[in-house]
Amino acid sequence: MSNLTVFDHPLVQHKVALLRDKNTGTKQFRELVEELAMLMAFEAFKDMPLHQVTVDTPLESATQNVIDENSVAIIPVLRAGLGMVSGVHALFPTARVGHIGLYRDHETLEPHEYYCKLPDNISTENGIAVVLDPMLATGGSAVAAIDMLKKRGVKKIKLMNIIAAPVGINAVQKAHPDVQIYCAAVDRQLNEIGYILPGLGDAGDRLFGTK
Ligand code: PRP
Ligand code: URA
Repeated sequence: MSNLTVFDHPLVQHKVALLRDKNTGTKQFRELVEELAMLMAFEAFKDMPLHQVTVDTPLESATQNVIDENSVAIIPVLRAGLGMVSGVHALFPTARVGHIGLYRDHETLEPHEYYCKLPDNISTENGIAVVLDPMLATGGSAVAAIDMLKKRGVKKIKLMNIIAAPVGINAVQKAHPDVQIYCAAVDRQLNEIGYILPGLGDAGDRLFGTK
């Protein structure tokens, strides 16, 4: 099975088109990132393990399948990954949240770590970490975030990006072939300063109105 899932759903494609538009303002941009994260999470959580419990309905007892809510954490990469958290929480409100702070050096494009706070449930045998970042450009930030998780004992990791460049996908696949990647669109290439083309510009700035 390929470890790359690209969404071809018409609703996903429609929202990505709106997101790319330079005339889309901060409020709508934020809403679209949230909606896309929710649509993508539906697929990304498809293989969650289930276990059986007994539920008492008003009429009788029934054996039901439930997920282990305590096994999952969503990990936004700061800053732009924060915009995806509420979308995943809309589907999975009890998911814990860990934060990884990384920024790309403007000259070298190398990621620099400045923060890491993770819930302890993901380092257990059944723990699952879902890394959120709208943009996968060179792949440096995603590879570094996954490295940080693995160093802390996390075994099962998924990566959710909205827009990915082929070079970034290759970098993650090479460094972490065990990680399933979900993205809404695969774009053509990076420009000379590491931005995705056609892309959507700077995701963090557009989400938080910092430019
Ligand atoms: C952006 C984006 C990713 C990273 C992708 O963050 O949100 O984290 O760049 O680029 P890469 O694949 O080449 O590493 P940025 O470093 O601009 O930080 P910000 O979210 O704080 O603006
Ligand atoms: N980070 C962004 O926000 N946008 C890009 O195109 C590349 C990295």
